[in-house]
Amino acid sequence: MNEPRRIAASTFAKLNLGLEVLGRRSDGYHEIVTIMQTISLCDHVTWRAPNQPFSCIGPSHVPRNRDLFRNVLESAPDLARCCGTVELDKRIPISAGLGGGSADAALALRLAYPNASEAELEAMALRLGSDVPFLIRGGTALATGRGDRLQHLSTPKLWFVIVTPKIWIPGKTPRMYQGLEYKDFSDGASVRRVALQLDSGVDIDAALPNAFERQLKQFDEVRRALELMHDVSGFPVNISGAGPSLYIILTNESDALSLASRLSARGLEPFVAETVAANYGLIQIQRLAAAMRGYPEE
Ligand code: C5P
Repeated sequence: MNEPRRIAASTFAKLNLGLEVLGRRSDGYHEIVTIMQTISLCDHVTWRAPNQPFSCIGPSHVPRNRDLFRNVLESAPDLARCCGTVELDKRIPISAGLGGGSADAALALRLAYPNASEAELEAMALRLGSDVPFLIRGGTALATGRGDRLQHLSTPKLWFVIVTPKIWIPGKTPRMYQGLEYKDFSDGASVRRVALQLDSGVDIDAALPNAFERQLKQFDEVRRALELMHDVSGFPVNISGAGPSLYIILTNESDALSLASRLSARGLEPFVAETVAANYGLIQIQRLAAAMRGYPEE
C-alpha cells in the first residue's frame, strides 16, 4: 500500500490593518471595525507514523487544559478511527496580537471536522474566540461586530516588517479591552475607508488607527521600538490587534528585507512576511485530514 509517511500543513498569522473600537456591548464584548489580513508567518503541523494509534503533540510550554489546538483536534467526532501523530510546531509569537493561538484553533477545526461547511466551521470557531472565524478562511476581510462579521476583500500584494516587543501582559486581550477609555473609541470610518482603498488597489500610506495605542505606549519597550522603527524607516508604524506587535507596510520584498536588516543592526529582531490569500494551503490541510483517517493518497 502506498501510504504517505509524512504530510505537512501550515496555519497563518494575521495582522490587523487598523482596529477601531466603537463601544462596549451588552454581552461584555466590544463592537469593533478592523481589517484582518493573513500573512506568511505560520505555525507548522506535521502528521507521521500512520501505523501508530492517534496522538497529538502540542507546544510543550502550553498547559494541557489551555492547549486549544489539541483540545479541538481531539473533539473530532470520529477520533476513534484516526491514526498517526499530529505535531504542532509553533513559530508565531504567543500573545503578540498576531492571532497565533486562533490560527492553530482554526486549523484544528478543519482537521477535526473535514466535512463541515465554511459557515458551520465559522460558527464553531466563534465559540473559541472572536478572531477564529476569520482564520478559518484567512485572506483579507473587513471584520465588524465582535470581529466575526466578515466581508471578504481582494488580497493586496504587500510586505510587512514586524517587530514584537518582548513584554508579557498577563491576560492581555481582556485587560486591554477593559482598559479602554471613552477617548479611545471612534466610529470605524477610518478603517472602513482603508478597506475601500485596499479593495480598489490604492496603497496605504498613512498610519492605521488602533484603539489600544494609548495603553500600549505606556510600556517602555513598545515606545522604544515604535520610535526606532519610525526613525529608521521614515514610515508610519502600526499596531496589530491588542499588541504588542508593531509593523511597517511595504510594497515590495527587497525594501522589506533591506529595512529589516537596518532594524536588526539597531538591535531589534524584525521578521518579514507577505500577504497570504484566502484558503492558501487548504489542499494540504485536506490531505492531512484524510491521511489521519487512513484514506490512501489518490
Ligand atoms: O473572543 P476572545 O476570546 O478573543 O476575547 C477575549 C476577551 O477580549 C473577551 O473575553 C473580552 O473581554 C475581550 N473582547 C472584547 N471585544 C471583542 C473581542 C474581545 O471585549 N470584540
